[in-house]
Amino acid sequence: MAITVVPRHPALGAEIRGVDMHWPLDEATRRAVHEAWMEHLVVVFPDQDISDAEHVAFTRNFGEPEIFHQTSLGLRADRVKEIFLVSNVDERNNLLKPSTPSQVQLSSSRQWHTDSSYRPMPSMGSLLHGIEISRTGGITQFINMYKVWDDLPDGLRRQVEGRRARHDFAMLSRLVGSPPPTGEERAAMPPVWHPMVRRHPVTGRTSLFISSIYNDAIEGMEEGASRRLIEDLSDFAAQPQYMYRHVWEPHDVLMWDNRCTVHAVTPHDPAERRVMHRTTIVGAEPVVAA
Ligand code: OGA
Ligand code: MN
Repeated sequence: MAITVVPRHPALGAEIRGVDMHWPLDEATRRAVHEAWMEHLVVVFPDQDISDAEHVAFTRNFGEPEIFHQTSLGLRADRVKEIFLVSNVDERNNLLKPSTPSQVQLSSSRQWHTDSSYRPMPSMGSLLHGIEISRTGGITQFINMYKVWDDLPDGLRRQVEGRRARHDFAMLSRLVGSPPPTGEERAAMPPVWHPMVRRHPVTGRTSLFISSIYNDAIEGMEEGASRRLIEDLSDFAAQPQYMYRHVWEPHDVLMWDNRCTVHAVTPHDPAERRVMHRTTIVGAEPVVAA
């Protein structure tokens, strides 16, 4: 299979044609996809009407799928445990109200973040399959954090260089008022410290590494100042020249690199069904400071 790669934005994001996720990838195609992914950070595969099993199988070309540690809110699919439900419809096909705990927790993804950064080895990447897409919002926006690091003003740069930030899964519930993790969930995911400026294990490039929905502390800073710095960094990052906005079509599959991007979704009408299934690739190494 020969693939074609067409950029969708100058900063990041490219469309890949010539892949059919119903079938195993041959090694040459797998390498070509990986190379395009490392170059463009977010890749879009249009027209992939796949099953969850095919989604998981495709994910395994690039690493080990994560199994979400939190089982209390119904965000982890019962049928295929590697699937995380980014949906306002449950597995019994009920439309969920915005006040449902899972929906309150998911609302955090409207703020800039990178997936599973609260793990000791944060996620490498995620693959999101748009099954029923929104037409009233639900645009997923991505930022190239290499470029953000390159352009970061000196004042901000000095505050992050050589520093670590804490990433805590429990921060989510404090942020959006979702149910706090159970004792067991908390014990499974204690807070971790990661460098704020990291070197990418594949490309060798340097990027800013923050995740505003999980960062609750920065080394050597007061709590208020830490939160303000994360907000200032997120605001600087969220500029159009660093951003690809993905407007979904049914059965797009997006694959992004969690090590050098952040993302956030725009709100949509909660009366409209939105069904998206995600796999998350576990990190293969700890975060290395640049
Ligand atoms: C995610 C996420 C994006 C979206 O799937 O990791 O943050 O479009 N959501 O809902
Ligand atoms: Mn996310």
